Amino acid sequence: MATGTSDVLQRIEREKGRYLDELKSYLRIPSVSTDPAYKADVLRCADFLLERMRAAGLTAELVQTEGNPLVYGEWLGAPGKPTVLFYGHYDVQPVDPVELWRHPPFEPTEEGDELVCRGATDDKGQSYTHLKAVEAMLAERGKLPVNVKFLVEGEEESGGHAIDAYVKADRGARLACDAVVVSDSSMYGPGRPALTYGLRGLVYLELKVTGPNRDLHSGTYGGGVQNPLNALATIIARLRDADTGKVLIDGFYDEVRPLADWEREEFRQLGFDEDAQRRDLEVPELHGEQGFSYLERVSARPTCDVNGIFGGYQGKGAKTVLPAWAGAKVSMRLVPDQEPETIARRFTDYVKKVTPRGVKVEISSLHGAEAVLIKAEGPIVEAAMAAMEAVWGKRPVRMREGGSIPIVTTFAKVLGVPVLLLGFGLHDDRLHSPNEKFNVSHFYNGIRSVAHLLDRLGAPSK
Ligand code: BES
Ligand code: MN
Ligand code: MN
Repeated sequence: MATGTSDVLQRIEREKGRYLDELKSYLRIPSVSTDPAYKADVLRCADFLLERMRAAGLTAELVQTEGNPLVYGEWLGAPGKPTVLFYGHYDVQPVDPVELWRHPPFEPTEEGDELVCRGATDDKGQSYTHLKAVEAMLAERGKLPVNVKFLVEGEEESGGHAIDAYVKADRGARLACDAVVVSDSSMYGPGRPALTYGLRGLVYLELKVTGPNRDLHSGTYGGGVQNPLNALATIIARLRDADTGKVLIDGFYDEVRPLADWEREEFRQLGFDEDAQRRDLEVPELHGEQGFSYLERVSARPTCDVNGIFGGYQGKGAKTVLPAWAGAKVSMRLVPDQEPETIARRFTDYVKKVTPRGVKVEISSLHGAEAVLIKAEGPIVEAAMAAMEAVWGKRPVRMREGGSIPIVTTFAKVLGVPVLLLGFGLHDDRLHSPNEKFNVSHFYNGIRSVAHLLDRLGAPSK
């Protein structure tokens, strides 16, 4: 069955400059969901997307939630044909440290092929490809080869629960579909498309260690009471074995599904250049859990990392003081079948066990996500592989990613359909970092890939 997408591809070619201008308007809205100061911008961003969905020809509305609104859109004019649900997030990460940006973080700036702006790759630029492909098809043909639904959330970066509650309550009624498409991850490399079949989960905790009821002179009291910062350092030092890189929390690895031989072989065949990675990061050597390759460690093995540590005197010069308290933020990346709640409990028990005497420790949970493995085979997956190959000129590799997209697990469980993780980003996109970028050519190829995918999914099955 021929899948002639060339009519739509030609329209994309003619209109791509406008698509890029629109993406820039979308990027200019500072929709930072982790900081309440940006609430009005987050809402404005949802309105922008709503209006763009309507302009593309979708029936669309805002779904109000306890958190930020969901933007829902649909076009259901192909009865009997499959239905695709597109997911993305319109919220972005904070911009700090702002002084390291080459341009204002919310002023999209082209540097050659790179469009530099917060949200460029994560996830406005990537997910906007879905809408532009649908728009181009509707404009060209007046119809689509499949039914489409869009669900775009505004609190992915803040671990919000609104979309999770919505999908669980819906139980596949309004959201009934044959496949979910998510573009919020990376390709294997330039010119090397990927179909991602695994994401890690996450447990994010905050630790607070408290000692004396006030800061104390380190001369008159030093040596007399436990120092909360010293105690915190002790706790942190006992989380991982410095030599083997193993996490020392009791039971941490109990439910970890070992890597299958075929999987390790596929990792090997990717031929990842560890030395190039080392040079890119300018570190003397790569480091991590003994017995696993770099790619395995960053996508298929669990971790425990300190993200931030605070307390005590931070000003200039020396202030001789014993701090009254100390704190740290710790995250653990999880793999199947580790449960966030179980791991959080084991962490808490372990930290209590290793906390030095003379201080109190409190642990609170900031957010979590379950790891996911998706069955990467079947006709829908084949259609996605073929669509990517048609545009990028190479068959996608199957791989796992180390990041987390909390709702993907819920989609897979509640909707019971394949979730296609079609990332158009690159690993050097600097997501969550200063000077985040998305390659303009990847934006256009993403649109083309989605157009190919829809035609293939709508083609009568052989
Ligand atoms: N798009 C990322 C996740 C991602 C990054 C997947 C790279 C694959 C490759 C997503 O927006 C993200 O940042 N997720 C957070 C989780 C969230 C609960 C804050 C993460 O992974 O830290
Ligand atoms: Mn994202
Ligand atoms: Mn992100």
